[in-house]
Amino acid sequence: MPDLILRNATLPDGRTGQDIAIEKGRITAVEPGITAEAAEVIDAQGNLVTPPFVDPHFHMDATLSLGLPRMNVSGTLLEGIALWGELRPTLTKEALIERAVRYCDLAVSKGLLAVRSHVDTSDPRLVTVEALLEVREIVSPYLDLQLVAFPQDGLYRNPEGEAALIRALDMGVEIVGGIPHFERTMAEGQRSVETLCRLAAERGLRVDMHCDETDDPMSRHIETLAAETIRHGLQGRVAGSHLTSMHSMDNYYVSKLLPLMAEAQVAAIPNPLINIMLQGRHDTYPKRRGLTRVPQMLEMGIDVGFGQDCVLDPWYSMGTGDLLDVAHMALHATQLGSQDDKRALFDCVTVNSARIMGLEGYGLAPGCRADMVILQANDPAEAIRLRPNRLKVIRAGKVIAEIAPEITTLSLAGRPETLDPAAYAPRNVTG
Ligand code: FE2
Repeated sequence: MPDLILRNATLPDGRTGQDIAIEKGRITAVEPGITAEAAEVIDAQGNLVTPPFVDPHFHMDATLSLGLPRMNVSGTLLEGIALWGELRPTLTKEALIERAVRYCDLAVSKGLLAVRSHVDTSDPRLVTVEALLEVREIVSPYLDLQLVAFPQDGLYRNPEGEAALIRALDMGVEIVGGIPHFERTMAEGQRSVETLCRLAAERGLRVDMHCDETDDPMSRHIETLAAETIRHGLQGRVAGSHLTSMHSMDNYYVSKLLPLMAEAQVAAIPNPLINIMLQGRHDTYPKRRGLTRVPQMLEMGIDVGFGQDCVLDPWYSMGTGDLLDVAHMALHATQLGSQDDKRALFDCVTVNSARIMGLEGYGLAPGCRADMVILQANDPAEAIRLRPNRLKVIRAGKVIAEIAPEITTLSLAGRPETLDPAAYAPRNVTG
């Protein structure tokens, strides 16, 4: 007998009236009209039921530190890095854990149950690494946390950068990070990519680098990253985060670069909220949007997963833990506005990122872990438009967060007494 049956779900692929049976934390059936009895039944009432949101790019060691020790006045990436450098020596393991775990509460409430976080390895004390390894354990019953060893101050620019990064991997951090555009020279950036890919290949690890997060069209480390991926046989295990310089690159050059990325199966992880804020700071007008070439990448079959990057930290004073905010910004910044585009963008905050992170048992098929979210919306396009309530968040078949549907009471003469935001879904939209 199933432990739980979730009835009358609409799935992201458009199937309606679906029942989902769950036993021992796993999905056992997805079909209409399951007749079995279950210990617990949840009526999804035709709402969208999706696998959880996934954030493939975050900084959990910095989150919720906004205002410490001061605010970022210029709002630039470089002042953010400098500010973080001021804060870093004062960080304690206890405070890092407290902030990170508190952030994970927020994430869960938004149906975000898997996060890849970069961990700064620049301070040789590695208190950030110690803290986040502990956080990974604490939150593991409800949130999958992957950690990337991230040399924020550069692998070579910081004299202790390489040794500290290797120590972080030895301690149990599972992904190799980098920041080639922040090394002193293009050549050192290239050398850092070569070193880090070799390191990952030797240890059988994945790679996820901050790569070309600049407006400089000559910042071309993604090319080296793709080539090194092929050289070391790391296809399908490497991601380039940000890749904003590609926005400003010459079209002819990009016509060669994107097929190279596709050949290397290098995924792209743009971060639309943060990069719409940080990029284009040297521009007057026209002013660049600073987002990488998402539509072209999707056309080429390159895996794209959107990250949040920052919530309330030295780089970004906004953020809610809601990946639908990210998809909403991505839609506007990329001008991907058709109904098909919206479904593709929804994938960029769910299934694509799960694939990029190599998450096991993710999805809404029999055999998958019973992790899912009921949204107060009818379909993925409406979910991006409304960024609605997560009515129930389910982890391994158990409800771990819930909220009542948002229904506003109106007092308007001659008008209905209540307003349900989801009731505004357009009824005549096709395609
Ligand atoms: Fe980042």
